[in-house]
Amino acid sequence: MNPHPLQDKRVLSGMRPTGALHLGHLHGVLYNWIKLQHTHECFFFVADWHALTTEYDNTRGISQSVMDMVVDWLAVGVNPSAATLFIQSRIPEHAELHLLLSMITPLGWLERVPTYKDQQEKLKEKDLATYGFLGYPLLQSADILVYKASHVPVGEDQVAHVELTREVARRFNFLYGKAPDFEEKAKLAIAKIGKKNAKLYRQYRKRYREQGDQESLEVAHALLESQQNISISDRECLFGYMRGEGKTILPEPQPLLAKTLKMTGLDGQKMSKSYRNTISLREEAAVTEKKIRTMPTDPARVKRTDAGDPEKCPVWQLHKTYSSAEVKRWVQEGCRSAGIGCIECKQPVIDAVESELKPIRERVREYQDDTSTVQGIIKEGCDKARDVARDTLKDVKEAIGLSF
Ligand code: TRP
Ligand code: SF4
Repeated sequence: MNPHPLQDKRVLSGMRPTGALHLGHLHGVLYNWIKLQHTHECFFFVADWHALTTEYDNTRGISQSVMDMVVDWLAVGVNPSAATLFIQSRIPEHAELHLLLSMITPLGWLERVPTYKDQQEKLKEKDLATYGFLGYPLLQSADILVYKASHVPVGEDQVAHVELTREVARRFNFLYGKAPDFEEKAKLAIAKIGKKNAKLYRQYRKRYREQGDQESLEVAHALLESQQNISISDRECLFGYMRGEGKTILPEPQPLLAKTLKMTGLDGQKMSKSYRNTISLREEAAVTEKKIRTMPTDPARVKRTDAGDPEKCPVWQLHKTYSSAEVKRWVQEGCRSAGIGCIECKQPVIDAVESELKPIRERVREYQDDTSTVQGIIKEGCDKARDVARDTLKDVKEAIGLSF
């Protein structure tokens, strides 16, 4: 029995272990995971090999970051009895599938991924002209496909990686999904739908295969659906023949964009470790308070009596995440009329962040004091993930013709 109501929906997502998790992770990613774990079958993993693609010269911190990351996940409420939590490098099938997929992936597909050039630009001080860095979106594809995930919660910047994954899966299915007599079977099935329909089907197929015309694909689907005199397997065979595939061995995943607010950092930019504008999930109350107190505000408010505009103030962005309608109205009015001071305005944010982080800090401490529980959770998750990954690799190797 599958306990998940949407059992065909398997979610997979990963996070690079690059140091302390912060409020940006919590609001941008983790709250979404916590919701998904109740409605979908979820696999969440620490992408430690991915950390190597950029941190290959600085690997000392990675293993501590991996443990810290799992502890933070647990502390915020990612639930190991609802979701499978594991570590990428403990599942060698990710690497095996990555290698097999690398054989069929044109270089141009990887060079075209926008993050490839962007990241090289952004991290200029690092030599990222490596084989591993070029290939990391394909490693991500392997991460996804090895669990036959249907949905991948990602941020905007990662959608291109899911798109690549879809293309690679399609190519894999095209190359290896054909049963030996597939073409023959398709021809026999075509003969059963009548001369006129067969002609139409061939035209649609040609248009779809040569020009990628989606409409032809849909019209052909409708045509096949309406055929009463062919069997289900004939129909499926003709669907597959249309798309140039036989069997679907690796299903194409969909990106799942979270409807979360972008968390703003202390300086008004996106909250990110590289901008040093974060509040970490383990931040002590006094540090949080100090960080928020020293946040810049609308530069127009030089003196207490100068009016300001919340839209020009990063503190307002935090109110948007944390404050009730009533408090937000108080900010809007008080700021524009110089009725409140900035210190006053910051207090509700300080309080809200602290009441969010206090229980998290406590649970972090509990898990830190009980590493054997954490190790046990990881072990169990890795075992479960590995079973799924092994099954996929079995299918994959069989399809390629590598099972002896
Ligand atoms: N590349 C992702 C990031 O930088 C992390 C990641 C690795 C991932 N493999 C994944 C995310 C698979 C989703 C699915 O954030
Ligand atoms: Fe920002 Fe609040 Fe000061 Fe206005 S009153 S500038 S919103 S901190």
